[in-house]
Amino acid sequence: MKLNRRTLAAAIACAPLAGLLPAAAWAQKPIVLGFSQVGAESEWRTANTESIKSAAKEAGIELKFSDAQQKQENQIKAIRSFIAQKVDVIAFSPVVESGWETVLREAKAAKIPVVLTDRAVNVKDTSLYVSFMGSDFVEEGRKAGRWLVEKMKDQKGEVNIVELQGTVGSAPAIDRKKGFEEIIKADPKFKIIRSQTGDFTRAKGKEVMEAFLKAEGKKINVLYAHNDDMAIGAIQAIEEAGMKPAKDITIISIDAVKGAFEAMIAGKLNVSVECSPLLGPQLMAAVKDIKAGKAVQKRIVTEEGIFPMEVAAQEFPKRKY
Ligand code: AHR
Repeated sequence: MKLNRRTLAAAIACAPLAGLLPAAAWAQKPIVLGFSQVGAESEWRTANTESIKSAAKEAGIELKFSDAQQKQENQIKAIRSFIAQKVDVIAFSPVVESGWETVLREAKAAKIPVVLTDRAVNVKDTSLYVSFMGSDFVEEGRKAGRWLVEKMKDQKGEVNIVELQGTVGSAPAIDRKKGFEEIIKADPKFKIIRSQTGDFTRAKGKEVMEAFLKAEGKKINVLYAHNDDMAIGAIQAIEEAGMKPAKDITIISIDAVKGAFEAMIAGKLNVSVECSPLLGPQLMAAVKDIKAGKAVQKRIVTEEGIFPMEVAAQEFPKRKY
């Protein structure tokens, strides 16, 4: 059969007759990627979703996008539905680290490669996913800790820290705590006096900070928030309690989203450690390589910096999220 544009379009439209299609026609079929997103809990997540969607469009990849509203059960359902739809590749940002073995084995049995973006899973068999791309969250926690140790190096008395953790069981919450503690434990003057989850949201960050302030009041010297949204919520709570954020309480957070830069420029946040959500182009490149049978790296780590309030105004115009 000779193919011109019209016969090719007609052939593709008759997908049920796929068995009759020559290789040239199949080559025109877009790659289908099923992506399960955590939710829309933070400014970071919104930027990440936007990056995935725009990069898929740019790369000509058909994206089946599913929002799990921060529930693991919804992610598992979405992955099963991608398997049933026989997508070419599945990618997801796992809300929590554990509990993925069964569904990942199902994807492997269906011969659908899986890419992890942003967050890791805790599985014994690492052949259950092809690649994991995203930040080194332990290192982000260390950067936050190192900044604090340097800032407080001349402080003689105790430094009382309250910590707003991310979603319980999530890789960034576990790792950012670990990295931060690893650094501050070198000096016993640093004490985490309260630590609770704020689920990575502004509303929860504010609510938990209000409780911290009620319990500890002026004793609090430092707030370490696992993301900017919780820090921004906490800033409101601190102001409502009649205290000055970034002066009465030193505030450290993670992500370096535009909202954090605005808070730093306003003098209300001391520092934000960068965590880039712009993973879309990298993911689409990996998806294409996987489909082409090329090898992809098992771990792709995002390079990131740290932004103290002193450089915020100068850096703000360059920020992409
Ligand atoms: O997994 C990345 C984290 O998830 C970001 O730091 C946080 O803002 C988001 O919700």
